[in-house]
Amino acid sequence: MSKPTPSSIPGRAPVLGTAPPPARPGAFSGQVAIVTGSESGIGRETARQLCQQGAAVVLNGRNPERLRQTCEAFEAAGYAVVSCLADVTDYPSCQRLVATAVQAFGRLDILVANACISQRAYFVDMQPEVFRQVLDSNVYGAVYPLMAALPQLTQARGSVTFISSISALNGMPSGSAYCAGKAALSNLAHTLRLELASTGIHLGVVHIGFTQNDPDKRVLDAGGQPVPIAYRPPRWQKSQTEVAGIILGHIRRRRQRTVISALGWLILLVHTYFPRLGDWFVRTSFRRFRHWYE
Ligand SMILES: NC(=O)c1ccc[n+]([C@@H]2O[C@H](COP(=O)([O-])OP(=O)(O)OC[C@H]3O[C@@H](n4cnc5c(N)ncnc54)[C@H](OP(=O)(O)O)[C@@H]3O)[C@@H](O)[C@H]2O)c1
Repeated sequence: MSKPTPSSIPGRAPVLGTAPPPARPGAFSGQVAIVTGSESGIGRETARQLCQQGAAVVLNGRNPERLRQTCEAFEAAGYAVVSCLADVTDYPSCQRLVATAVQAFGRLDILVANACISQRAYFVDMQPEVFRQVLDSNVYGAVYPLMAALPQLTQARGSVTFISSISALNGMPSGSAYCAGKAALSNLAHTLRLELASTGIHLGVVHIGFTQNDPDKRVLDAGGQPVPIAYRPPRWQKSQTEVAGIILGHIRRRRQRTVISALGWLILLVHTYFPRLGDWFVRTSFRRFRHWYE
């Protein structure tokens, strides 16, 4: 775990612990964030932009080497970061993740539940254990960090963002456990908004569309083996930088739901008002562009 740079933040006393976060100017100045799964991909970019806008960030992942490299690169850029190797589907590890934020920076304001594993497998072929693994990573990988962080987030009237997908707005062949897990997060956020209204905590969901991936990104096949992600037409992909910028806007405005891209809004519209047309389109595109799914 690397050391933060302590300095004082006018108007933002530490909620717990000793060291206040460093004073870097920006929209998130003085705030402390955990971004799960931030050793790579969209999570890493989100963590980078939070740092650039003044936050102190706890980086997280399961791969020690990748996490170390990301943390060192961020430290070299002068960002206030620490890292915590933790599997977010394990509750004690999530308690350790939150304790890392409090010990290093004295408070916690923002949780971005980004980590998950995806799949490239048809339901009929899937081993039950693989379905459970993908579903768990999407559901418990968001629930457990939030449960562990709730006392600190309540004290800070903080913000929680579940990173979801536009495929949670409808269905996607070859993505059963992934889509089911992402869809569950929307209902969870809604229910918790009602249940936790008096705490002032922001609870929102960001539905992300096709985004450029790290070259080494892997998803699970039907037997649980890591495989490269299916082909995506490059012109339909947003960059990780663009997507992270939108996630930060969502947190800053404390939005309930952000749907990224025109395609995302089209899917939402069609599946709300013309669900049969939406299903027809998915089935037709599935027949014509099967390689997008497999
Ligand atoms: N990229 C897209 O096109 C796209 C589209 C829609 C939604 N999204 C969503 O955006 C988020 C980020 O996706 P991404 O493309 O950046 O994926 P990614 O590159 O695979 O990043 C996810 C990170 O989370 C980590 N992780 C997975 N399970 C974990 C666990 N249990 N505990 C701790 N870390 C864990 C992964 O580490 P390991 O390598 O160890 O698994 C990886 O470092 C995900 O929620 C994804 O569903 C992405």
